[in-house]
Amino acid sequence: MNFIIFINDDILNAIRQIPDETIDIVVADYPFKIRGDKKDYVEFIRRTGDEFFRVLKDGGNLIIINNPANMFYTMEHFQQFLFRSMIPLKRKHRFCPNKMFCFRYNLLLYLCKGHKDNWNYVKEDDYWNIEYSTGYNGHPSGLSTKLTDRILYYVRRKGYTVLDAFAGSGSFLLSSVKYGMNYIGVEIEQKYYEILRNRIDGVPFGYIIYNNPQNIQKILIGKKS
Ligand SMILES: C[S@@+](CC[C@H](N)C(=O)[O-])C[C@H]1O[C@@H](n2cnc3c(N)ncnc32)[C@H](O)[C@@H]1O
Repeated sequence: MNFIIFINDDILNAIRQIPDETIDIVVADYPFKIRGDKKDYVEFIRRTGDEFFRVLKDGGNLIIINNPANMFYTMEHFQQFLFRSMIPLKRKHRFCPNKMFCFRYNLLLYLCKGHKDNWNYVKEDDYWNIEYSTGYNGHPSGLSTKLTDRILYYVRRKGYTVLDAFAGSGSFLLSSVKYGMNYIGVEIEQKYYEILRNRIDGVPFGYIIYNNPQNIQKILIGKKS
């Protein structure tokens, strides 16, 4: 039986409950800022990167979305992964910081843990002309499911477990279940967590749903292969 787990918490707390090498795909659509300065942000990325590496199975994929500046400042913390691809994602609205070019795109990075091949290889270009954000239900950076479907398409497999570390409005939830995968969504903000949970209406029968469970280890260890 497939499962969905919703967790309303900081990813750095929630992930401590997840045993080593139990996750097939980690999706990290990072917040562009956190409380604190640039040093705090880079440290946050380092800590999450190490945790994502720990929980991923050998051959598992890490998918990161962030803006170009954050990618630049944090890239060194993902060097334990194998690089697969980097794809620009066209933003819906331009953002013009002082003294810089206006941002018209964010970046999607596919990384892999180890050399085992969990990649559904197809000969396609690394430039996609696809709607990025829909701002679903009031979440300012809610991704379009067209995009999340495509992102997971290359790494999907029935029965895989996806960890959506910054779940927001939960577009990766719908794409994960579309491909018959288990889903763990973590969201720190109560108001977005409610949007995420309400999105369950779009999920087909046949999933066990857990809200803030105390026994994630048990659920995941049962699945470990
Ligand atoms: C870029 S948005 C993700 C959007 C999401 N992919 C969607 O389609 O709606 C980042 C999300 O991470 C959440 N967030 C920020 N810091 C977090 C943390 N430490 N742990 C978990 N979630 C966090 C934010 O509240 C925000 O909803």
